[in-house]
Amino acid sequence: MIFFLSVLTLATTVTAIYTKRMTTIAGVEVIDTQIVRDAQALIRGFPNYLYSHQMRSWLFGAAMINANATLKKNIDLEVHAIATMLHDLGWDMTPGSRWVSPDKRFEVDGAIGARTWLSEHPIGKFWAPERVRKVFQAIALHGSGSIVNYFELEEAVIVQSISQDYNGPVNGVTHAVYDRIAKQFPQDELLSGTNKTFVWLAETKPSTTWDTWLQPWGDAFVPGYSAVGHRSFDHIAGTKAS
Ligand SMILES: *[C@@H]1O[C@H](CO)[C@@H](O)[C@H](O)[C@H]1NC(C)=O
Ligand SMILES: *[C@@H]1O[C@H](CO)[C@@H](O)[C@H](O)[C@H]1NC(C)=O
Repeated sequence: MIFFLSVLTLATTVTAIYTKRMTTIAGVEVIDTQIVRDAQALIRGFPNYLYSHQMRSWLFGAAMINANATLKKNIDLEVHAIATMLHDLGWDMTPGSRWVSPDKRFEVDGAIGARTWLSEHPIGKFWAPERVRKVFQAIALHGSGSIVNYFELEEAVIVQSISQDYNGPVNGVTHAVYDRIAKQFPQDELLSGTNKTFVWLAETKPSTTWDTWLQPWGDAFVPGYSAVGHRSFDHIAGTKAS
């Protein structure tokens, strides 16, 4: 059984790296394997602002990889596709969502969700541990570009892919390519949808937002929200009692 499993793990890795089945979406050449299609099917069930943000993150990233020979040679395209498309599972506002915990930051919910999804997937469950780890780390750190940029190439590139949706094209992605993606997957609800989600997170699980970059949404928009007493600043600078 162990032999069987390791052969399958090897086989899925080799398949991903050497048999590059590709297709074109919004003019961008992307990897087209069963697991990548299954990730698309999963996110298609989300509201449009969330589905389209995940799709654009993948496509902006794929365009960046396609424009750079080093990235094209070195990036594991399935790892990149799965991580970009599943990075915001923790944004699922559906009551009782299986992806959202009461007590963990949304980035961690996304990372755990993607890892669980892989472990339950008929192909994903045979993924080599380092591929799963890259997906997990990139998603867990996707709100912290100033840290993840210094991780391994895949993690950094995954987060650069996502941030293009907010910050525009980078690293060789032209405005023409960017605009074609944004035309097929419109960005009109990106900021309002993101804003609404962050308010919801600060409202429904405030302790996961205190002392994080989400805290300003609670401070600005959630009545009764206060991080005071819960910040490192309070413990270290001694303001806790005041
Ligand atoms: C390609 O990507 C690598 C890794 O991110 C980067 O160091 C390099 O500068 C890029 N090359 C070009 C021509 O953009
Ligand atoms: C963000 O949400 C707050 C609270 O609902 C709202 O007042 C503000 O206008 C929203 N901003 C955007 C860009 O949607």
